[in-house]
Amino acid sequence: MELILRDGRLPNGESIDIGLDHGSICALEPHLAASAAAEITLGGKLVSPPFVESHIHLDSALTVGQPRWNQSGTLFEGIEIWRDRKQSLTLDDVKARAIATLKLQAQQGVLFVRSHADVSEANLIALKALLEVRDIVKDWITVQVVAFPQDGLYGSPGNLELMEEALKLGADAVGGIPHYEMTREDGVESVHHIFELAQRYDRLIDIHCDEIDDDQSRFLEVVAACAVRSGLGSRTTASHTTAFASYNNAYAFKLMGLLARSQINFIANPLINITLQGRTDTYPKRRGVTRVKELWQQGLNVSLGHDCVQDPWYSLGSGNMLDVASMAVHVCQMTGQAEIAACFDMITTNGAKTLALGESYGLAVGKPANLIVLDADSPYDAIRRRATVTHVFSHGKLLVQTKPPEVKWE
Ligand code: FE2
Repeated sequence: MELILRDGRLPNGESIDIGLDHGSICALEPHLAASAAAEITLGGKLVSPPFVESHIHLDSALTVGQPRWNQSGTLFEGIEIWRDRKQSLTLDDVKARAIATLKLQAQQGVLFVRSHADVSEANLIALKALLEVRDIVKDWITVQVVAFPQDGLYGSPGNLELMEEALKLGADAVGGIPHYEMTREDGVESVHHIFELAQRYDRLIDIHCDEIDDDQSRFLEVVAACAVRSGLGSRTTASHTTAFASYNNAYAFKLMGLLARSQINFIANPLINITLQGRTDTYPKRRGVTRVKELWQQGLNVSLGHDCVQDPWYSLGSGNMLDVASMAVHVCQMTGQAEIAACFDMITTNGAKTLALGESYGLAVGKPANLIVLDADSPYDAIRRRATVTHVFSHGKLLVQTKPPEVKWE
């Protein structure tokens, strides 16, 4: 074999040696007797499948301040700023920022990314650019593209045609934003249309759903009902669902039963929603993050996303998924031992399930050798210290190495 990683530790705590050969994992045992052309001793460091960024907008990444800063900090001012910025989009502009962001992510252990591409823009430049990027980077990072109608499917004439054109061009998933449509009826209609398109074009579904503090925003039940009726639950994702945090408990209890039946996936974006939501509240001020802990306790698949890196909605963002997991631990009060471990799953295996990566993801003999090493001894340690990802292996090749900071007392 080409390479052996010795004395690593899996997220479940087991000690492990890992053999890599021809781009695949060829051995996975506590103590490998074989030798290899090259060996790296990890000294008990955490070895994990790569991080999965299940929700980001690469088309708007790295545009903060262009043409102006979001002073109110609201979702709606962000949409207005982006409407102005996207007038000057070019293929090269989007591609350069997307690839720079993917590099930022990959060097911090992310090798699977689902990005939304705004398709409510007349020339589909964002979508075409991200489809090109998906191909350009495919040898080292896997990108899925969601056709996302930022201004609503019914917000402007022609948006429906743009969505369909995006699917014909090869978008991986159908997106939506029912809570931003002009009326509740339009929102419900948009969800039905999204499911119809997903079936017609055989695509995944990922809907920005109820990303608002309005306790009357109830499109999640429409998504779940459509998933039950179509049988597309495992291929469907509800992103954000922040209104779920504001629903009364009687309704939330009833809804949870339907969600369990639907088996849809959820993505929470705690970094951005803790800053975007609650902006119209005085005090007490809502957190505006969906019921992550309760969905997880219900056995539903929840993953976490960064959502934005330096764009009109979120001027911060590091590309580091451990920042996202750490924020989830805090905001969702998931501080129990099993809960912290679950937050690590939400940026790894749960994200892989959301992206429907199937058998290609994970640490097992015969799978592609995609894995990361962290300067930590457990998922808890990694999240607590936002540990450095020291090695990133993509398809068996060392893609990036980073040295942890050295502290020297005099
Ligand atoms: Fe988003």
